[in-house]
Amino acid sequence: MSLRKEIERRRTFAIISHPDAGKTTLTEKLLLFGGAIHVAGAVKSNKIKKSATSDWMDIERQRGISVATSVMGFEYDDYKVNILDTPGHQDFMEDTYRTLTAVDSVIVVVDIAKGVEPQTRKLMEVCRMRKTPVMIFVNKLDREGKDPMEVLDELEDQLQIAVRPLSWPIDMGERFKGVYNIYENCLDLYKPSKQSVTESVHMDIDSPEIEKHIGDKLATQLRDDIELISEVYPDFNTEDYLAGDLAPVFFGSALYNFGVKELLDCFVEIAPSPRSVQAEERRVDPYEEDFSGFIFKIHANMDPNHRSCIAFVKVCSGKFERNVNYKHIRFNRQMKFSSPTAFMAQKKEILDEAFAGDIVGLPDNGNFKIGDTLTSGENLHFKGLPSFSPEMFKYIENADPMKTKQLQKGIEQLIDEGVAQLFTNQFNNRKIIGTVGQLQFEVIEYRLLHEYGAKCRWEPISLYKACWIESDNPAELEEFKKRKYQYMAKDKEGRDVFLAESNYLLMMAQQDFKNIKFHFNSEF
Ligand code: G4P
Repeated sequence: MSLRKEIERRRTFAIISHPDAGKTTLTEKLLLFGGAIHVAGAVKSNKIKKSATSDWMDIERQRGISVATSVMGFEYDDYKVNILDTPGHQDFMEDTYRTLTAVDSVIVVVDIAKGVEPQTRKLMEVCRMRKTPVMIFVNKLDREGKDPMEVLDELEDQLQIAVRPLSWPIDMGERFKGVYNIYENCLDLYKPSKQSVTESVHMDIDSPEIEKHIGDKLATQLRDDIELISEVYPDFNTEDYLAGDLAPVFFGSALYNFGVKELLDCFVEIAPSPRSVQAEERRVDPYEEDFSGFIFKIHANMDPNHRSCIAFVKVCSGKFERNVNYKHIRFNRQMKFSSPTAFMAQKKEILDEAFAGDIVGLPDNGNFKIGDTLTSGENLHFKGLPSFSPEMFKYIENADPMKTKQLQKGIEQLIDEGVAQLFTNQFNNRKIIGTVGQLQFEVIEYRLLHEYGAKCRWEPISLYKACWIESDNPAELEEFKKRKYQYMAKDKEGRDVFLAESNYLLMMAQQDFKNIKFHFNSEF
């Protein structure tokens, strides 16, 4: 197959949702269709749940939370589908943000009873920022929920994206009959059996056959709904979807495997193949012959005794090959990899080649940082995602003076891996760790001890936000830094960060220093 064909058939995406909306269940059903797992019917037992998610990390097993982000690839029709799994727990939101830098599109899962929830809203902000094409799956139609029209309004309003239903539910809960697939013009009938595959009958919405299947009352209601939809919502337009301006919406029940195949069929057809990626130097087209890629995730603790990691590379252009020299741009050094891995569902296997859109796992002993670029030779630096101001801050202190070096190295490597953010206070040189949630502190403490033999201690610090500052007026910037020296820190790239203790003090600072811009993310 030609390079172009190989790349065109790739669909690399992530499923995002608020916890419990059904992301794992949907992922499993997609894997079933792809033949990547072979358990027919609903996947309920924990055993299978585990097989669809990665549980490499000990801490993850202990807590039963999917800390790590894994990759699941499978073949479906003529497509190569790569699903990037994201941790459901909100304390690991930054992992999810980073994963979103490596996908070409996203499927958002929403629970019909709960509608749009906070985590979904936050993740959508990142999708909007990056103009990522988004498809929405409204899940759990086998249960009672909100009125579907209301859910559409809520999606538009809260996710700030135009929506267009491509399927429409016929009743819900115990009375759920199925969906009318607007995209394919067919009636998909629901049978409440976890083993069954949807019975799908092609028919126009005006066909009298509809009455035979769902009865007069529901048929009339369905036609009214479809008419209303066509009046209120513009026709579906793939270009708007690809531009990230319009999200097609599907309804179904992941648990009962209903509406999932329809979602997948439409997805592979319209979702984008690998898109061009912006490097600092230029935009890189996926179909270029030369290989390029960047590290978006480092997955540690594969074997705690050897502190081995897997660095996940998103191939941005061309073809990656085993045992071929590539340039590690930050080190300005050639490297080749004898055992790169591909991820086919839960199995890892050595791969010989991978194409733009694919994710390759590289065994690593600390050579990589998040954002590192590898290329066939050209000096490229792919733009990552900015750091956002953390929500929680703590001083990290050494609790075992004999292990100072280990602690230093551990902190440095964990920060490079993107486990949390590090700020060094310029006044007292103390190190401050910033996180999204409490669990991240626990992960750091655990990993420092188990992988580096170092012991840390946390001390409280009351901070509201970390703000990256800039100004066109260097004198004023210097004056600000002098005046606020106790609250000035450097991030890991050496950029100036103002640590605001409260919203009030931040507002005061903004008032006093009008020429200084305060940013809540590192790339403004
Ligand atoms: P998440 O990854 O987004 O956190 O959600 P997950 O798939 O784990 O689903 C959360 C719960 O919702 C699970 O129930 C799952 O079975 C259920 N669920 C998912 N899709 C549907 C659906 O379409 N209909 C219904 N009725 N339930 C659904 P649980 O009781 O928490 O776990 P389990 O005991 O079923 O594994």
